[in-house]
Amino acid sequence: MKNIFLIGFMGAGKSTVARHLQKRLKMNLAEMDERIEKEQGMTIPEIFEKYGESRFRDLESELILTIGKEGNTIVSCGGGVVVRPENIEYMKKNGRVFYLKTSPETVYNRVKDSTNRPILNGNMNVEYIAGLMEKRRALYEGAADITITTDGKSVDEITDEIIIAI
Ligand code: S3P
Repeated sequence: MKNIFLIGFMGAGKSTVARHLQKRLKMNLAEMDERIEKEQGMTIPEIFEKYGESRFRDLESELILTIGKEGNTIVSCGGGVVVRPENIEYMKKNGRVFYLKTSPETVYNRVKDSTNRPILNGNMNVEYIAGLMEKRRALYEGAADITITTDGKSVDEITDEIIIAI
């Protein structure tokens, strides 16, 4: 097994599932947003504000190459990793891609108090989340080797489904 990439919208549960998988599979763990923040010495909102989204996307694309080379890693991807086709191509070549699919309502309930997701600044409502999710739907689905619907499932159930699939 090379790498396991977890993709999906903000609040889909990628980080939580990645931590559970790591305990069960004894692989390395990489949380993309956390790594970017550490490497830049800035928070994600600060990076967006100071350098703009496109610079953040560049950092994301650079990081995915580094992580991919490290190998044997469960990667909790940023929700927007699929907006760059080269990221999708790279993930598909270097591991299995699992899409955690979650409803806009569940996402909203999980992220509504979050202040560190600049993409949702000023747009923290179900309608906006549903619209953006719809815009990205084909990207998530096209990138995924396996789609896992997560609504109503426990973290253990989701983790089990992934482990069975690999
Ligand atoms: C983003 C998702 C975030 C983070 C950034 C942009 C997006 O990651 O990378 O705020 O465009 O969907 P999470 O999915 O971990 O919240």
